[in-house]
Amino acid sequence: MQVINVKSALRDYQVHITETTDFIRDLGNIKERLYVIDSNVWEIYREQIFRGIDPSKVMVLPIHEDRKNLYTVMEVYDELMSRAAKRNMTLISIGGGIVQDITGFAASTLYRGLNWLYVPTTLLAQADSCIGSKTSLNYKNYKNLVGTFFPPNSIYLHPSFLKTLRDEDFYSGLGEVIKLHLIGGADHVKSLLARIDQVRERQPNALLDAISGSLNVKLGFLDDEFDRGKRNFLNFGHCFGHALEATSNFAIPHGQAVMTGMVFANIVAKNRRFMSKNFFAELNEKILLDNIVSRPTQDHLNMEHIYSAMKMDKKRIGDGLTLIMQGDGYKMTKITDLFHPELEKSIDELKEVIGVI
Ligand SMILES: NC(=O)c1ccc[n+]([C@@H]2O[C@H](COP(=O)([O-])OP(=O)(O)OC[C@H]3O[C@@H](n4cnc5c(N)ncnc54)[C@H](O)[C@@H]3O)[C@@H](O)[C@H]2O)c1
Ligand SMILES: [Zn+2]
Repeated sequence: MQVINVKSALRDYQVHITETTDFIRDLGNIKERLYVIDSNVWEIYREQIFRGIDPSKVMVLPIHEDRKNLYTVMEVYDELMSRAAKRNMTLISIGGGIVQDITGFAASTLYRGLNWLYVPTTLLAQADSCIGSKTSLNYKNYKNLVGTFFPPNSIYLHPSFLKTLRDEDFYSGLGEVIKLHLIGGADHVKSLLARIDQVRERQPNALLDAISGSLNVKLGFLDDEFDRGKRNFLNFGHCFGHALEATSNFAIPHGQAVMTGMVFANIVAKNRRFMSKNFFAELNEKILLDNIVSRPTQDHLNMEHIYSAMKMDKKRIGDGLTLIMQGDGYKMTKITDLFHPELEKSIDELKEVIGVI
């Protein structure tokens, strides 16, 4: 078992990366506990890994991005209250980023903070979202508008859950893995590229390396826990990616939208001469284009829709649009002066580079 320590203002916590499922038995020793489990994950694993879980202590949560809101959090409060939850209750969440966000928010607000353990079961959650302390809910049409900072007390990461992920969810997670390795720089990219085929075949050791590599890069940015400066760079690919998620009505999964967002950012960087043409072509060929499996349509890339979606970015402060970019040598920067004409030209180029459907 490998343990990663994460420092956080609220409390330090640990990620236990484990190849066995013994942790399920250990969790069963916690006296006051409620499991909140993604319904798909519960169905797949109830007869195997979850055999030891007492079903009377399980709340099964149907998962959809539309349900990542305050109403579903209230369902979790109701379940806890119906069990006369006290402050010594431990909430154990098992599932992907949606379960993490809903239960993390519930745990952070009920009694101003319950014990909370998290078992991530998607690649996105294992390689990225499980650390960083954020909980986010959608409000009306606004994605991740409401949230808190509240890390779990502990995370149990078991990569063999990833075998049963649908391809689209696997490739969404891979988008974040690639993003984190790119931000990590040359050595990280090199080690990911050396095993990218095995990662795509979901070979356990290759996945483990990709996950721990991703978490280690992210850790380096978390000393800026509350998102004030350098943590912004983790948003590489997200300024455009979030807009694409919105214009595609979430038909393009998050990490895949981020992949297209990174190609878009690279186009702007290249045309501003922050990234050389050679490096641009090399990244596209080696790591970006082959791993985009959910391509946007002409409609998804409608200029006006993208523009209004990018204007909604909650981190934007000035008049122009914000964009995190990468340049030669994997150097990161942030611009806040992306305006209409440059956006339009860059979207046209993006269509040529990635090939729309
Ligand atoms: N809080 C954060 O820091 C943070 C960071 C990034 C993303 N997010 C949020 O995470 C969400 C996306 O998370 P996600 O990509 O993990 O998706 P998800 O939670 O929606 O899960 C994707 C699908 O996979 C299924 N699933 C989960 N585990 C499975 C398994 N082991 N086998 C088979 N199917 C399984 C789920 O039922 C669901 O249908 C978004 O809402 C995003 O905003 C949060
Ligand atoms: Zn993301």
